[in-house]
Amino acid sequence: MTSSNKSAVDIAHVYRGTFVHSTDHTVVEILEDRLLGVDTEGKVYSICMEWSAYPCEGHRLVHFVVCSEFFMPGMVDTHIHASQYSYAGTALDLPLLQWLNTYTFPVEACYKDLAFARNVYTHVVKRTLRNGTTTACYFATIHTDASLLLGQIANDFGQRALVGKVCMDTNNFVPHYRETPDESHDETNRFISEMLKKKYPLVMPVVTPRFALSCSAALLGHLGEIAKNNHLHIQSHISETKEEVKLVKELFPDYDSYTDVYHKHNLLTDKTVMAHGCHLTDEELKLFREKGASVAHCPNSNISLCSGMLDARRVLNHKVKLGLGTDVAGGYSPSMLDAVRRTLDTSKALTIQDPQYQTLTFEEVFRLATLGGSQALSLDEHTGNFQVGKDFDALRVNTAIAGGPIDLINHGEGPKVGTRDDRNIAEVYVAGKRVVPFVETT
Ligand code: GUN
Ligand code: ZN
Repeated sequence: MTSSNKSAVDIAHVYRGTFVHSTDHTVVEILEDRLLGVDTEGKVYSICMEWSAYPCEGHRLVHFVVCSEFFMPGMVDTHIHASQYSYAGTALDLPLLQWLNTYTFPVEACYKDLAFARNVYTHVVKRTLRNGTTTACYFATIHTDASLLLGQIANDFGQRALVGKVCMDTNNFVPHYRETPDESHDETNRFISEMLKKKYPLVMPVVTPRFALSCSAALLGHLGEIAKNNHLHIQSHISETKEEVKLVKELFPDYDSYTDVYHKHNLLTDKTVMAHGCHLTDEELKLFREKGASVAHCPNSNISLCSGMLDARRVLNHKVKLGLGTDVAGGYSPSMLDAVRRTLDTSKALTIQDPQYQTLTFEEVFRLATLGGSQALSLDEHTGNFQVGKDFDALRVNTAIAGGPIDLINHGEGPKVGTRDDRNIAEVYVAGKRVVPFVETT
């Protein structure tokens, strides 16, 4: 048994059932018929087989998990554009740079309107929570007040989140959707101080230069300073398409590589997560490893926009931290289960090209969606698995509820056959609090 030293009154709930998670030493560990205690701060107190491990007062048995159910850690979406949820599933007929100019920038400009922002942000937070995303690393838009609103909504619904006010001072196609370097600097400072003032327990600001093509060197420098002075997380995009890599080389000729552009502006740290990285060189991956920066693998988006195929095995072999992202709306699905499936598909496609390729296993991808994501966001002290002392961020998965006709025929005894998808997520917990099903307020 592993447990921390708590007295009886500190334990809020005890769950009994099967727990599936990744640890530092095992890709996937399955713990059958265990008791998991959660303390009043929402942290895992103990995971063991014996009732005698628990003080007999001050706890409640919340749930006996039946044989078709198990608990797993909540999933971590390391890269999602909350603002692009309004058009997810549409407009995927152009390559990245044209797609940004034609669809993305005009839509993001609408978030000046706080009522519009509130509506979309409420929908995206509810949808991702329902789909099992207990932690999300969000891009908002350039608008500070709407970005603060996203933080408030995530907090109100109980989702753990990093929220970024997008920074960009270059935009030739939609000129009303950009800032001056000074505006971006000042508004980023305002965003951070307002967000920190709110003292949301689960929501943190993240410094967010959109990508090198949208930011002048002056702006990148400002943002690197802000991140450094405040020890903040950083997120951006890197090497998503070959065209983008070529343009960055032209725009920043004095730098060794795309990665070096971020590095020289203090934007490559152990709290940095860079989306995509499909076309990174070995030297760039070495720099990632040296600095402790991570990659968010967004396979749905990479395929939908024909951007590239990230070789996740190569990233792992370089010992670079790797998480998964939906990248809504370059990716058309807000579900992390979809990101898991597309990660496997991409790995299998690489195997078709090269039969010697070491395909990712399902267990490895489960790890990337949970513990890997929390490591990629440097949040693994708090979340990612059921280790004692971490927050209880969990999904109760019931494999017997899936809603297809086969399941309906198959009720009762016998092997269960049918669809398995997000609808199997019966409950979602963040920091010990049940956040799905939603408690509707009138
Ligand atoms: N690169 C810069 N901005 C974006 C964005 O909004 N989506 C994607 N997929 N890539 C980007
Ligand atoms: Zn993105």
